[in-house]
Amino acid sequence: MREIVSIARGAASGGNLQPWKLYVLQGAALAELLDRVAEKSKVTPFGDGPEYEIYPADLSEPYSSRRARVAHGMYEILGIAKDDSAARLAQMAKNFRFFGAPVGMILTIDKQMGPPQYADLGLFLGNIMLLAREKGLHTCPQEAWSLWGATIREVLGLAENELVFCGVALGYALDDAPVNQLRTERASLDEMADFRGF
Ligand SMILES: Cc1cc2nc3c(=O)[nH]c(=O)nc-3n(C[C@H](O)[C@H](O)[C@H](O)COP(=O)(O)O)c2cc1C
Repeated sequence: MREIVSIARGAASGGNLQPWKLYVLQGAALAELLDRVAEKSKVTPFGDGPEYEIYPADLSEPYSSRRARVAHGMYEILGIAKDDSAARLAQMAKNFRFFGAPVGMILTIDKQMGPPQYADLGLFLGNIMLLAREKGLHTCPQEAWSLWGATIREVLGLAENELVFCGVALGYALDDAPVNQLRTERASLDEMADFRGF
């Protein structure tokens, strides 16, 4: 883990701000966070309240359809019906156990930062994901953890200016788990890129 994070921190950041902070949890430290969240979930299953708006309120096309397609695809593979809110909630709750991964990370950013620094954060996060793959490990970045900002702040002792951007589950994916059979689509090359002068 130290090697992955050490290399990942070489990510480029505008002005060398390095606006990220990462908490890597395993064993008792991980259990403490998961236990606290599980306890609180009995009262507030959807968390403490969001740290930020994950998607724009009125998501336009084509984004809205893409988002709906991936959600529909996932619940179909899992055999969860659209109106089965209990099963959907149970699936959502797996986020808050890092899907059973042995390592859970929490990635924070200073609250004063804006869009350019969130791009920096994405570069850092992407590095972690790729470096994990290089070692045969798998990750799942989880914006869902931003719903538990206050609890994370309390358990990990975050500074007031830290905003919980996401969690990252890290471990070995179960190749035969139904949810891991989901394959997402990509816009065609010509739709997403405009090559000129070639
Ligand atoms: C920044 C980020 C946050 C994510 N948050 C979650 C999450 O909270 N829970 C989850 O199950 N998957 C999460 N994912 C995984 C995506 O939902 C997953 O990759 C999905 O299959 C979208 O397809 P794509 O990655 O092929 O675009 C996240 C991915 C990224 C990059």
